[in-house]
Amino acid sequence: MKIIPGPSSRILGKKVAKLMNITATKLVLKVLPDGESYVRLDGTVQNEEVAIIQTASPPQDTRLMQLALIADAAKRNGAESITAVVPYLAYARQDKVFLKGEAVSILAVARMLGAAGIDRLITVNIHEEKVLAKFPFPAKTVSAVPLLADYFKREGFEKAFALAPDGGALSLAEEAKQVLGGDCGCLKKHRNLHTGEVTAKENNLDVEDKTVIVFDDIISTGGTIVAAAKIMKKLEAQKIYAACVHPLLIGDAEERILKSGVEGIVGTDSIQSSVSKVSLAPLLSKELAR
Ligand code: R5P
Repeated sequence: MKIIPGPSSRILGKKVAKLMNITATKLVLKVLPDGESYVRLDGTVQNEEVAIIQTASPPQDTRLMQLALIADAAKRNGAESITAVVPYLAYARQDKVFLKGEAVSILAVARMLGAAGIDRLITVNIHEEKVLAKFPFPAKTVSAVPLLADYFKREGFEKAFALAPDGGALSLAEEAKQVLGGDCGCLKKHRNLHTGEVTAKENNLDVEDKTVIVFDDIISTGGTIVAAAKIMKKLEAQKIYAACVHPLLIGDAEERILKSGVEGIVGTDSIQSSVSKVSLAPLLSKELAR
């Protein structure tokens, strides 16, 4: 097998290659004067199973285009098969038509990647797993929540309350509960589809005097975590932390969250950020070895 760390996941890709005892295949990447991406493989992939590790964090469109170009280059150079490892799969939240006239963005992205030569895809905690069945190639999501929960456990947070900010994330809180050994529950969240504004409602949760960790797949603007923290404070939780798989942390999200009373944020290196304390490398290398 050959591993190609893409430009958005250089560090993570190299970590995965190291854990698998494979020398990472180098890539020449340029951004042309007009903004186009240019890629060239600096190594052979003839008759090899190739894994391209490239997260689709901002700038998402460029990252996806680079992934397509690397896949095309690998196929042209005789790769036997191509697995795209895309820890953060951009556009996955637009997995259906919410308002008349919209695109189902994630399916358009999947078709584009299939046309570029990708044979299968591995992602991490996709927003809604069901959509993967509609991809034009086999695609799978793996969960980093046990790794995040384990991080908190090792830091002394055993029995902390695992909270999901909405019903859709309840399975994440349930997974975390398995590791932390405390209780779990979820809030009711509403997002205004036009303004994006988030409001949350409590859901009969007993968190008084407890340490609460809010588990979510993505932290983007921080609005969801801030809304959850507000309710936790009202319910007199003792301390509040936030954990997420994909720390997009757009703009001043981190500051906003910390100002809302959250004591700390822990994320993975799905997107390299100031809160990336947990690496996905062991999870991804196991998955690729399989
Ligand atoms: C949406 O349902 C997701 O699971 C996250 O809760 C959401 O993307 C977080 O976005 P933000 O940080 O902007 O509230």
